Amino acid sequence: MTDLAKTHALMARGRDFLGTEHAIMCGAMSWVSERSLVSAISNGGGFGVIACGAMTPDLLDAEITATRALTDKPFGVNLITMHPDLTDLIAICGRHDVSHVVLAGGIPPKGSVEAIKVFGAKVIVFAPTLALAKKLLRSGADALVIEGSEAGGHIGPVSTSVLAQEFLPALAGDHVVFVAGGIGRGEAIAGYLEMGASGVQLGTRFACASESIAHADFKRAFFRANARDAVASVQLDARLPVIPVRALKNKGTEEFTVKQREVGVLLDQGKVDMGEAQLQIERYWAGALRKAVIDGDIENGSLMAGQSVGMLKEEEPAADIIAKLMAESEDALLRR
Ligand SMILES: Cc1cc2nc3c(=O)[nH]c(=O)nc-3n(C[C@H](O)[C@H](O)[C@H](O)COP(=O)(O)O)c2cc1C
Repeated sequence: MTDLAKTHALMARGRDFLGTEHAIMCGAMSWVSERSLVSAISNGGGFGVIACGAMTPDLLDAEITATRALTDKPFGVNLITMHPDLTDLIAICGRHDVSHVVLAGGIPPKGSVEAIKVFGAKVIVFAPTLALAKKLLRSGADALVIEGSEAGGHIGPVSTSVLAQEFLPALAGDHVVFVAGGIGRGEAIAGYLEMGASGVQLGTRFACASESIAHADFKRAFFRANARDAVASVQLDARLPVIPVRALKNKGTEEFTVKQREVGVLLDQGKVDMGEAQLQIERYWAGALRKAVIDGDIENGSLMAGQSVGMLKEEEPAADIIAKLMAESEDALLRR
């Protein structure tokens, strides 16, 4: 027996699915989840995922090549379903024989799951409702991430604890389900594994790992923050259903309100249609996140963070974070 025997036993299906030592995924974070963090996570026994975000196919091509040079362990690629070049991005993944593709940001467009499966990759999807989860799993998705509103970045309206109670009893018997949102310590991982999850996905906890290229000021803002500082954006215009984003409060979160008003006026004037309006909102977030992560503009940029941010106190290597989470989970299970 290893000293992680209980956690590993509960993670068996997830470890097998990911091909990793531990069934801990680092969810893709735009601008943050690039070669350095992704390879560090995978080399640390977890599962790193490249955030394609708004990258062009050429940039994704280069990022996969560079990540492969840094790790021989499995990692995935996260594609945003509304990306205008989704088909080309899938083709790039195929050319590199990527083993796992995560489709995020909405319901996968027709044919996308099939296009990924053609080259033998496993497809991981998100689903906001149980009915949709069942439909996606029926139509070829191999695994599901359920992500609660405690998470950083784009969020749904329901908390992780409620999603876990609703989805896991219904799906975990036959399917690989990962739980995400608000996980900061291993005790929570143990709980979700006992409920039937095959593994977990964390973002915020890894955003400030030593290997993360996020700007030092971005990381300092995370270490200073409390759970209550990570707030969800508010929808201003009933016609413009923007997906809420959880981020640390700053001038940037206020500017988002202004941006929504501007786009609302353009809609009123008929200068943009609904699709273009939503794209403008998403481009705003991508730009604002870059400003904070890369340039270190923590006032005007977007500090996307989940509520677990309050548990982050210092920079640690990704492998140490993973080892700590696993040890906490194991201790919790041993105490049962
Ligand atoms: C800074 C940041 C950027 C993110 N960007 C993306 C993204 O580009 N695509 C995506 O699917 N999820 C994104 N997420 C969500 C994460 O992949 C992950 O699911 C989430 O952080 C898990 O919840 P946690 O933050 O409570 O650990 C982002 C999260 C953060 C904190």
